[in-house]
Amino acid sequence: MDRTLDWNDGAIVAIDQCALPAEYRMIRLDTVDALIAALQRLAIRGAPAIGVAGGLGVALAAFAHPGDAAAVRADAARLAAARPTAVNLDWGVRRALARLPEGPDAVLAEALVMVDEDERVNRAAGKRTADLLAERYGDRPLRLLTHCNAGALATVAWGTALGAVRELAAAGRVESVLATETRPLRQGARLTVWELAAEGIPHMLCVDSAGPAAIGAGLIDAVIVGADRVAANGDVANKVGTYALACAAARSGVPFLVVAPESTIDAATPTGAQIVIEQRDAAEVTDWAGELATVPGTRVYNPAFDVTPAELVTAVVTELRLYP
Ligand code: MRU
Repeated sequence: MDRTLDWNDGAIVAIDQCALPAEYRMIRLDTVDALIAALQRLAIRGAPAIGVAGGLGVALAAFAHPGDAAAVRADAARLAAARPTAVNLDWGVRRALARLPEGPDAVLAEALVMVDEDERVNRAAGKRTADLLAERYGDRPLRLLTHCNAGALATVAWGTALGAVRELAAAGRVESVLATETRPLRQGARLTVWELAAEGIPHMLCVDSAGPAAIGAGLIDAVIVGADRVAANGDVANKVGTYALACAAARSGVPFLVVAPESTIDAATPTGAQIVIEQRDAAEVTDWAGELATVPGTRVYNPAFDVTPAELVTAVVTELRLYP
């Protein structure tokens, strides 16, 4: 598998996550508008990946408007607002923009550092997660559950939650992974299952509503998920459905681990109550395979994320520490 996204000859190249698993194809994005559209249709998705995309997007803007800092900043603001929940996007945009006074090459150089450091960071967090689970379970193979896709596709490479699963699998410490479908856009069914199959890691797919019940039935040793934003107090915003899994895990005494880079921690947001949750198009819920699959005119509640209170989270594991 290629890096999920990279820079090539003046443009961003990325795996088109909308096409998977039917087709593995790359897209080439050479304008900020094209990048924003790709982010909003989730061709590039997952908090760490969109953070790096934000940095590379500022490089596109800097090359498009040489000597016009105001135009670059306007593009950067539009880019940072493309999706509101994952703090990584704003982080990536700001980090690259900080180099703008040195010129477009410096902006690109900073974005490329972000591309390179992503895998290193993910591997460190995955190793820390595996060590944490060893404290409780020793080296016996584990039955894991993950939600959405926090794999290589959600990052530049390796993945966060799925990076930890890869780390455990390499040590013979995975009995099975239960992947939740992740309605409505089915990142679990389409992307996580694709990654697990490619790695030969034993897995099963379930509908979202079966996940909490599997935990309650004693079928799961640990839940491992990623995050889009971790508030200062440790509340976690992640793909909608995460909260129900955390409730079930807490009730059953099952570890609920959130694996995320430091760039997902938002010290400026005191608690989860202040996190803006992206609301998405009604058609994602009402339609199936392009056809209306409910009563015409049905109103829809379609938040892309939910917030899990810190008290339900066993640990947020970053490349540096357990947070908070
Ligand atoms: O809407 P998405 O697919 O971008 O949502 C992604 C998630 O919720 C992931 O769990 C999160 O970004 C962590 S990815 C390492």
